[in-house]
Amino acid sequence: MKPLSTRTDSFTDSVIRRMTRVSLQYNAVNLSQGFPDFDPPKAITDRLSRIAPEGPHQYALTWGAQNFREALAAKQKHFSGMDVDPNTEIVVTCGSTEAMMASMMSVCNPGDKVVVFSPFYENYGADAILSGATPIYVPLVPPTFSFDANVLEDAMKQPNVKALILCNPSNPCGKVFTYEELKVIADLAIKYDIYVITDEVYEHIVYEPHRHTYMATLPGMRERTIICSSLSKTYSITGWRLGYVIANPEIIDRVKKVHDFLTVGAAAPLMEAAVIGLQFEDSYYQELQAHYTHMKNLFTSGLRDIGLTFTEPQGAYYVMVDISQFGYENDEEFCIDLAREVGVGAVPGSSFFREDVNHLIRMHFAKKDETLHAALDNLSRINKLKR
Ligand SMILES: Cc1ncc(COP(=O)(O)O)c(C=O)c1O
Repeated sequence: MKPLSTRTDSFTDSVIRRMTRVSLQYNAVNLSQGFPDFDPPKAITDRLSRIAPEGPHQYALTWGAQNFREALAAKQKHFSGMDVDPNTEIVVTCGSTEAMMASMMSVCNPGDKVVVFSPFYENYGADAILSGATPIYVPLVPPTFSFDANVLEDAMKQPNVKALILCNPSNPCGKVFTYEELKVIADLAIKYDIYVITDEVYEHIVYEPHRHTYMATLPGMRERTIICSSLSKTYSITGWRLGYVIANPEIIDRVKKVHDFLTVGAAAPLMEAAVIGLQFEDSYYQELQAHYTHMKNLFTSGLRDIGLTFTEPQGAYYVMVDISQFGYENDEEFCIDLAREVGVGAVPGSSFFREDVNHLIRMHFAKKDETLHAALDNLSRINKLKR
């Protein structure tokens, strides 16, 4: 038979999902794949039960149900101050995953380059390959995960750089970019005429005293920023696959076309049920933040008591733990031993870094107290991995 497409030849399977399989195999507490094990807000699930008999059950408008887009535009205005036209500046997608891919497909031609901060969320590599773009990596240097503005400029001024991908708050390192850092990036984006594609799925999971700033609100950035985000993390509904792109009408016209032929649309009944979430009062977001702060404090104080060194997250729900003291050369091997002998699933940090970094592993803490206590209990025996 004729050879199949070579498009995905350089993909490896997802290390994160591989570590979930390893966790299952050894019955370990799985802190590798980032999703909550607690329920979504009851108002949203109640609404889903109420609309089940009556629908909508057929296709919504391809770029998203009208009431969903209107509620989203109002929420974006509330949190960022941005005026967003729900009819011309939003496409509702199947998660931020599709939002990112559709944005990359809309912006990049084969041969273009995209700047990506490393460590990075693994999807960006695949997004670049499928859209024909070549990534250029700029290090966020541990343990503070700061970047060198000169290195960034060297990357951004290369020929054919079309876009920069900005994950803020960041997975895996928990960095929340300050206004000053965003201004450095924005000024370079304007100087070299580069689009910024943001992944802001953790926009509402930020720890005091840090604050989330929307890149699109910086001077001159509204027209060149493509916001990708989703409801997955904010409302604990990762399985509903509701995300969106917000950008200027010209970009959105392109995104609509990609989205239309890729998926036709997001799930109509789930959009309808989630509208109520987009309309929640501020108190919902304050409670969400308080809940995540509680989980972060529980988990990180437990790690500290065990004697582990880690980077304190500023946002999102991941901790990068330093495993240098255990004497492993290979962090994947460490993670397999951790699952098998200690009973906790984690992700090898090397899967997120372009640079040769293999002394960090990522664990997430979006879990019920009992799950975190069980994980910490198992981790208290981690010293047996010392070589
Ligand atoms: C940075 C980042 N972007 C996107 C996603 C996926 O988001 P969605 O469920 O909206 O596709 C994740 C999930 O872990 C993530 O960490």
